This record gives sequence, structure tokens and C-alpha cells, in this order.
Amino acid sequence: MEKDTLSIIDQRTKAGYGIPLFKGTVRAMDLRQIKADPEDFGLMTYDPAFLNTASCQSSITYIDGDKGILRYRGYPIEQLAETCSFLEVAYLLLNGELPTEARLKAWVHEVTHHTMIHETTKELLQGFRHDAHPMGMFISTLAALSTVYPDARNIHNAESRRHQIVRLIGKVPTIAAYAYRHSLGFPYVYPDNELSYTENFMSMLWKMAEPRYRANAALARALDVLFILHADHEQNCSTNVMRAVGSSHADPFVATAAAAAALSGPLHGGANEEVLKMLDEIGSKGRVPAYIEQVKAGHGKLRGFGHRIYKNYDPRARIIKWAADQVFEVTGKNPKLEIALELERIALEDEYFVKRKLYPNVDFYSGIIYQAMGFKPDMFTVLFAIPRTVGWLAQWHEMLEDPEKKIARPRQIYTGYPERNVIPVEKRGVQALAVER
Ligand code: CMC
Repeated sequence: MEKDTLSIIDQRTKAGYGIPLFKGTVRAMDLRQIKADPEDFGLMTYDPAFLNTASCQSSITYIDGDKGILRYRGYPIEQLAETCSFLEVAYLLLNGELPTEARLKAWVHEVTHHTMIHETTKELLQGFRHDAHPMGMFISTLAALSTVYPDARNIHNAESRRHQIVRLIGKVPTIAAYAYRHSLGFPYVYPDNELSYTENFMSMLWKMAEPRYRANAALARALDVLFILHADHEQNCSTNVMRAVGSSHADPFVATAAAAAALSGPLHGGANEEVLKMLDEIGSKGRVPAYIEQVKAGHGKLRGFGHRIYKNYDPRARIIKWAADQVFEVTGKNPKLEIALELERIALEDEYFVKRKLYPNVDFYSGIIYQAMGFKPDMFTVLFAIPRTVGWLAQWHEMLEDPEKKIARPRQIYTGYPERNVIPVEKRGVQALAVER
């Protein structure tokens, strides 16, 4: 038996197998040869929610959840947040290397000149109800862009793929800002090509009658850093959706819409909005211990806490605390910060949370910052989706170029009835009663 193999003895047949080890895993298809008898389908693995299954190989993002490490293309997130702009990091995620000065300039110019959306898309946004959730508007508008750019279906053409990537990265802040202005009843503000990515976003959000919106430099930088932190996070729920939808060769606009839909859930990117609701519910620092007891007794979860991969402090949460200080210098402290800090302090000392390795995640503090900047909680997940669009697209592109790529199609363990015959409708009384019960 070779050293890099896993020896398996099937006690049903007493047959022995040598399963090659591949980068610390076994290929599930190698298990198919293990059969109880020649008619048997062969062994599968069962892994609901992918707790222990690598669905792809990727060279984009590295996470060590036990050590609290996050790297994009090998660069520690801390260094990227400290020294780079969001578009620089976007270039890195998409192309594998940081850009030279000239390439960065060209890249920024390119994205900046794709920020405008078609007037009919603007009209589509205007058709939403005044109180439509901005995330619903964002998701629907992304899907609608697929009708504006039918050439996006040409996913086998590398040049076309690149074009759609630039379009999407350029347009997501515009869609997000329009959704925000819509909820306030304000007219939409067209993009300003003289401004940086985040400054332009802030202008589209907050410009009123002044000829040019001047973003506060500290707030613009903090938002840029928050965008860097949210840009990619390997095979999370929404990225998995992006890859799965993209694997059917759907165009990148609908695939991104599907990924954004996955992000909107409260267990994923929707958690930042939920954190603010929780802090409102708690109301004051003094009521934190009682709230924690309630969670420990099984009544709900501490929102913004826990992570499938991080069993240590989320490195992004640490940088977010730094961003919070920068923002609060300008805006004054958000009073909710006091409640959040107390919640974190008590939870990190409590056996329930320590034992389960539950730490604050990226969503715990981001909402407090966004609120201090003037956003309503229903915008928080949209603010997550803007930068994550880059990660989704980098992963989509990598997936399409992967020689092992196939349409995503998991197996199942069927637990339903064996074959049975249809009973004519007039004779189904007893069966129908069983269903109603
Ligand atoms: N509060 C209290 N208990 C928790 C929490 C929490 N936030 N998270 C997990 N647990 C408990 C859970 O009840 C379970 O306990 P037990 O072993 O007694 O049954 C144990 O910890 C393991 O949790 P799990 O649900 O098996 O863990 P998971 O990996 O399936 O879920 C999670 C990860 C992020 C969905 C979960 O921690 C959670 O629901 N957190 C709150 C929502 C949240 O903040 N989501 C944002 C995640 S980070 C950003 C992103 O993904 O977008």
C-alpha cells in the first residue's frame, strides 16, 4: 500500500481498498468503487451543509479559522486594509497580483467609467414601493441587468467575461445608492467620474443641492477599509451559490443576483441588520446579562456572534473596531457601542460561548459604524454586497477556468416512499386524512 493512501476495509464484503490522498482529502468519486455487491451504486459521502467537504480548489482566499487568519492571494488582510484601496484589492482578487501604478490607474478609470446605469434600469428602480427593502431592490436590479446586457451570456469568451465583471463592479454602488435614495424619496444622483469609488458612492447617497459633494476623507477611508474586509471570504454560503448558479453557465448578472439573495439571509450578510435590532431590543448596558442568559437558555442566538470557520476572533472584527474609532472621531460615538462592548465582554468570559468558541464576527460592529455614518439598518446588507460582488466574480471566473468544473449537482439520500400506485381521487379519503393530520 502506498504511503499517500487511505486503507479501507469494507466489513460487508471484507474487500480492501487503497484510496489515494489528494491535498489532505479523499476524492469522493474514489469511494464509488466500494460496493456491497456488483449491483450496488457505490459508496457516497453524506455531508449536509458541507461541514467537511471541499467543493473546489481555489487560489483566491485563505482562512485559518483556528488561528484567526485571513489572506487574499497570500496577503494578510491587515496589510491590505492598512495600505491599499478597495479597487486595488479588487484588482488583486480578480487578477492574482497587486497592480502596478499604471495598471491601477487604468483599472480605476475603467471601473469609474462603468458606474452609470441605463435610464430604463433607473425607471425600474423607481417602480418599487416607497418602503421596499433596499436589499430586495438590489437583488432584483442585478437580475434585471441581465436583460440590458444580453452579451453577458457569452460566458466562454474571456473578453466578454472581463467586460461584465467591470460593469458589475462599477454599477453595484450606483444601484445601492439609488435604492437608498428611493427609500428616502430623494432624486437619484448620477455618478461623478472625478471621485474615487467610495467618494462617488457617498456622493450618490448624500449629495443634495450642492454642485459637488465633498466626502469627509476619514469616513471615505473607513468605508473603503470596510469594503476591503468584505471583499471575499472563500466558500461561504453566497459564494457557493455564485459558483453553483454559474456552473450551469447562467450569465454573471443573474448569478450575482442569486448570490446576493443568499447573502441577504440573517445567518449570513443579513446578520449586520439583525445586530442593530438586537442592540435596540437590549436597550441598555444593564440589560446585557439578562439577554445573554436568555440566549443561553435557548431563546435565540447572539446575532453577530459565531462563525462556521472562525473558532477564534474574526480578524475582520478587529480591524472594524479600528474603523469604528476613525468614524466616531467624526460622527461622535454611537450610543449602541457601549451595549455592544458589554455584550462582547460578558460573552467572551462566559463558559457557554468560550466552550463553543463563539466570537464576534464581521457583522457585530459593522452595523454600529454604518449607523453612525447615517445609514438605516436595512441598508447594511447592501453595504456588504457591494464589495462582496468582487469576491463572487473572482470565484465565478476561477470556477469557469477550472478544468475540473462541471455543473454543480449534489447527490441525496432518498428517504421517501418506495414505488406505489396512484389511487383514483374518489378513493383517497384515508390517505388525504393522514396528510391533513
Ligand atoms: N449565539 C448563541 N449560540 C450560538 C451562536 C450564537 N450566535 N452561534 C452558534 N451558537 C451555538 C449553537 O447553538 C450550537 O450550540 P450547541 O452545540 O449547543 O447546539 C453551537 O454554537 C454551534 O453552532 P452551529 O449553529 O452548529 O454553528 P454553524 O457553523 O452551523 O453556524 C453561524 C454558524 C454563523 C450560522 C451561527 O454561529 C449563527 O447563527 N450566528 C449568528 C448569525 C451571524 O452572526 N451570522 C453572520 C456570520 S459571519 C458573516 C457572514 O457569514 O456573512
